[in-house]
Amino acid sequence: MSSEAQIGEFYKDLTIFLTGETGFLGKILIEKLLRRCWDLNKIYVLVRPKKDKSAKERLEELFEYACFDLIKSKNLSEKVFLISGDCQKPHLDLGIQDAELLKKETTCVIHAAANVKFDQTLKEALHNVRATRDVLELAKEMQNLKVFVHVSTVFSNCVNSHIEERFYTPPMKSENLLALVDDLDDNTLQAITPKLLGEYPNTYVYTKCITEDLVKTSLQVPKAIVRPAIVTSTIEEPVPGWIDNVNGVTGLALIAGLGILRSMHAKKNNRAQFVPVDYVANCILAAAWKAHRSGTTTIYNYTGHNKNMITWGRFLEIMEPPYWEFPSEKIVWYLCFKFRENELWHKICVFFLHTVVAYFVDFVLVCVGKATIAAKNYRRLDKTMDLLSYFSMGSWSFEQDNVLELWDQMGKEDKKMFKFSMEDVDWVKYGQDSTLGARMYLLKETPDTIPKAKKKLKIMFVVHYAVVALFWYSLYKFMMYVASSLHGNF
Ligand SMILES: NC(=O)c1ccc[n+]([C@@H]2O[C@H](COP(=O)([O-])OP(=O)(O)OC[C@H]3O[C@@H](n4cnc5c(N)ncnc54)[C@H](OP(=O)(O)O)[C@@H]3O)[C@@H](O)[C@H]2O)c1
Repeated sequence: MSSEAQIGEFYKDLTIFLTGETGFLGKILIEKLLRRCWDLNKIYVLVRPKKDKSAKERLEELFEYACFDLIKSKNLSEKVFLISGDCQKPHLDLGIQDAELLKKETTCVIHAAANVKFDQTLKEALHNVRATRDVLELAKEMQNLKVFVHVSTVFSNCVNSHIEERFYTPPMKSENLLALVDDLDDNTLQAITPKLLGEYPNTYVYTKCITEDLVKTSLQVPKAIVRPAIVTSTIEEPVPGWIDNVNGVTGLALIAGLGILRSMHAKKNNRAQFVPVDYVANCILAAAWKAHRSGTTTIYNYTGHNKNMITWGRFLEIMEPPYWEFPSEKIVWYLCFKFRENELWHKICVFFLHTVVAYFVDFVLVCVGKATIAAKNYRRLDKTMDLLSYFSMGSWSFEQDNVLELWDQMGKEDKKMFKFSMEDVDWVKYGQDSTLGARMYLLKETPDTIPKAKKKLKIMFVVHYAVVALFWYSLYKFMMYVASSLHGNF
């Protein structure tokens, strides 16, 4: 094992083509590259126009996120170059000149773009396959390409209970699926989707599985496929607790902490599969270095360390102290969240604690002349939670030999600079940082609002237990009344 910084050295003079950099993981990847590997030659980033904004405007806005604060003083336009394109369009919608530029200059591809929604139709999710095919086709013509990294998910083969770090046979070959979807009208495709998915829980993991097979069979350069588990807030870099979305575990903790989410169908003794986004980025960067060094193709199940795992139940325990220490001003009720294993009991709780409450809130809103919002939002939340339950109820074991070997092969300097080993993660500190981060970056609440929020939390605590006491007292009275009526009748 060398003590030199070999990974940084590998990135020196590289020209990287990065997709997905406007996303959660992509932001941290590009930030890390620009902060730690400034000697690289260029990063070409694929950005699409979206919501009335041009790709150029979106790229400019990207660097306004707080995660880029540490590199604000750098002249980023020296290193980052826009490639306007769209993964949903044929050949990524690249201009001829841009395509030629990429073919001539790119030495490393990191393909992280994907539509990660669980409720996409197969037609929508198929863009994940088509885009990967088109990125691979482009990569085939890159004359100086050294390495190709594909970001997958550890659940791409979740129909197996033990997941090895190897390619699996896909449910369908990409070309057959693409041809089938092109041939069928939307209604027919919708009708046969469950049959096509088989045991796969959603179109996202189904298409991610097929893309892995595409990567396996295309391109004769060293490749790395990194399969992260659920990606959560940063643990260290650029600052602990940074996050930009409510999709994952941090989002769930936030919504529960605000008093909105009250029940989740999950086994609390199951292992919680989440990994901090900055460690995922480091693992990806290290995997590219290793692929180039070994000249081989390797798959990495990046799911945390088997010796330092955490269960959903422990996760909930860890999140409780920061809930009291750094509450939000936006809480709507006191925390009354629970994991419930029994599906029927969970559904009953959802009915009373979500649906009934939502309709009551909407009723009050109508009475004061305001528009209703609660029932609609709860319906959306419950639908999302249903989609997640496959993962919170399921149990998998993951092989992680390649991840451990990659870590072992890194030198001392590289381990410091590109840390991703989760063997010594302090989960309690991570829970605190994530709570503070969610408060700051998602709810936009500054630390000076904490004292006021604590007062609100105390009031909510009292109101919550007063309502609970009133409920049980009323129920008791009602039962007594029923019992005495029955007694009087007999
Ligand atoms: N988040 C997780 O928990 C998780 C777990 C395992 C694996 N992963 C994998 O990690 C990768 C990054 O995920 P993420 O969490 O960063 O997701 P994200 O925040 O939703 O970002 C997705 C990225 O893909 C881009 N993209 C999607 N459709 C595109 C299109 N048609 N054209 C161009 N770009 C497009 C998005 O660009 P726009 O900004 O233009 O939409 C965005 O940059 C994905 O490959 C995902 O499968 C994520």
